[in-house]
Amino acid sequence: MRRLWRLSSLRRVRSSHVLIRTLSTTNGANTNAAAVEKPYYVTTPIFYVNASPHIGHMYTMVLADSFKRWQTLKGNKALLCTGTDEHGMKIQRAAALEDVPPRQFCDANAAIFKDLAQRSRIDNDFFVRTTDPDHVEAVKHFWFLLNQKGFIYESKHEGWYCVSDECFYPESLIEKTVDPMSGQVRMTSIETGSVVEWTQEKNYHFRMTALKDRLLQFYEQNPEWVVPASRMSEVVNWVKNNLEDLSISRPVDRLSWGIPVPDDPGQTVYVWVDALINYLTKAGFPGWTPGAEHAGGWPADVHVIGKDIVRFHCVYWPALLLALDLPLPKRILSHAHWTLGRKKMSKSTGNVVNPFFAIERWGADPMRFFLLHDGGIAYDSDYSNAAIVERYKKLLQWGTGNLTSRITRPKSWDVRFMVETAERLPPLGEKPSLLSEQRQLLLVLPEAVSRHMDQLNPAGALKEIMAVMTQTNKFVTDAEPWNLVKAKDLKLRDEQRLRWTIYLAAEALRISGILLQPFIPDKAEEMLDIVGVDRTRRRFEDARVGADFTYGTPMRDPGKSAYDGLFPPLPVED
Ligand code: MSP
Repeated sequence: MRRLWRLSSLRRVRSSHVLIRTLSTTNGANTNAAAVEKPYYVTTPIFYVNASPHIGHMYTMVLADSFKRWQTLKGNKALLCTGTDEHGMKIQRAAALEDVPPRQFCDANAAIFKDLAQRSRIDNDFFVRTTDPDHVEAVKHFWFLLNQKGFIYESKHEGWYCVSDECFYPESLIEKTVDPMSGQVRMTSIETGSVVEWTQEKNYHFRMTALKDRLLQFYEQNPEWVVPASRMSEVVNWVKNNLEDLSISRPVDRLSWGIPVPDDPGQTVYVWVDALINYLTKAGFPGWTPGAEHAGGWPADVHVIGKDIVRFHCVYWPALLLALDLPLPKRILSHAHWTLGRKKMSKSTGNVVNPFFAIERWGADPMRFFLLHDGGIAYDSDYSNAAIVERYKKLLQWGTGNLTSRITRPKSWDVRFMVETAERLPPLGEKPSLLSEQRQLLLVLPEAVSRHMDQLNPAGALKEIMAVMTQTNKFVTDAEPWNLVKAKDLKLRDEQRLRWTIYLAAEALRISGILLQPFIPDKAEEMLDIVGVDRTRRRFEDARVGADFTYGTPMRDPGKSAYDGLFPPLPVED
């Protein structure tokens, strides 16, 4: 696998003629290559570098990261790609405004997004930049193939271009509005409110209308391709009613900051075509090994995107791929937005939360937890510090931290002994009891979490785990093990009840700790260290009641009180 990967990277830097030959030989499938397993492949959108990241960007990264880590937990090879979208008019103008060369502007801002990924504990395998040489090569080759297959033609284009959204809008989606700051009348997009400019130019077009039937057929056969499925009807309607050929280049005298159209240096590739191809670049396109085109992960298992870029991913992207007969991504997760004061958080309006400050203040894992637990898929969520504090206190500090401390701290029982001897405990009777109900709760948890993750719903998964934490706290309170240990001459039945209680509470910590790893990786690791779970026994398959009797010797101090361990008090609350 590694070797193939290196080979394909080597091929990528050769001339496009070699690349064309490589692709055209893919029919003679190489059986060894075909035996290479396809990794699970997750992507985030690539971020425009014209402004600093905000919480919405961190959300999209963390969602994608939870899917990658979930697959890793399940023992599957998984790849995650994130990165930056660096070409186009928007970036060209932003760089000009700061009076720095675009390349320098992009280098500085891409580094900030890279830093955000690191601080958010994103386990990305790639950080793609659209200015990377391998990406430029991939785009040129993609263009070459589109042209070769007759999907590109040249014509004059007139229309309303929106630099902020980097797309043309039809007349029917434009309105006159008044700028509240200057009082000036301007033309804006009805959908996004961004200003549009009238442009007239010669450019290349992609025959997207030729793919209309294939697109509609694909949607019909794959009604669950977009999550949530409700977004599919918007996509279908749009294709039925608005599909036009797509302008896919701009004259270089207007847009010079981009990838030149192969064989026509007078034109620059449209930034969205350039950007979408990033998903293929890091999957090894076009230097795929014949017969093992899937080795780099393509087709993607899930593209995570925000709801504002559904059309690009659910219409333009599949149309481009269909034109080249390339496999389509398996699913698109379109999430809702974070709002602040119920208004969309956006760099153009300035009402944004800086994720670096938020991580500094609350910690990376508490922020990941909050975003995943409260972030919307179908509906927007409003961001507030009060909500972060509330989740932290109730679910992390009390629910998880306090439970860990209640079970692992007391000197009056020995978790290691309870775990070691649990195998020899008499089975729980048929009659429902506190103990059997607690056991049942743990037995069904992993599959419940797994079902949510299969549906791309980390919030649902987290809620299942937190419900078990809350219920286990109640179970321990009701079972009162501290009274049992105090009693002199404990009867055998009570002794067994005590042992089952501590064991099942410890199992709740172990199993939940394992399942929490994709969401709050550092805190889950600390938790499993406190519970003394061996590093090699933290896989999904270990998250079963009775799968491990070796744990219970702490590798980390649980702290002196319930509140100075895993989730200490927050520094400042407001
Ligand atoms: N560059 C394009 C994506 C190209 S992908 C081939 C782009 N960039 S962006 O920087 O404007 O946005 C990146 C992502 O952040 C998008 O998925 C967008 O939906 C998401 N968000 C932007 N604002 C957001 C919120 N307020 N809340 C949640 N996500 C939001 O679009």
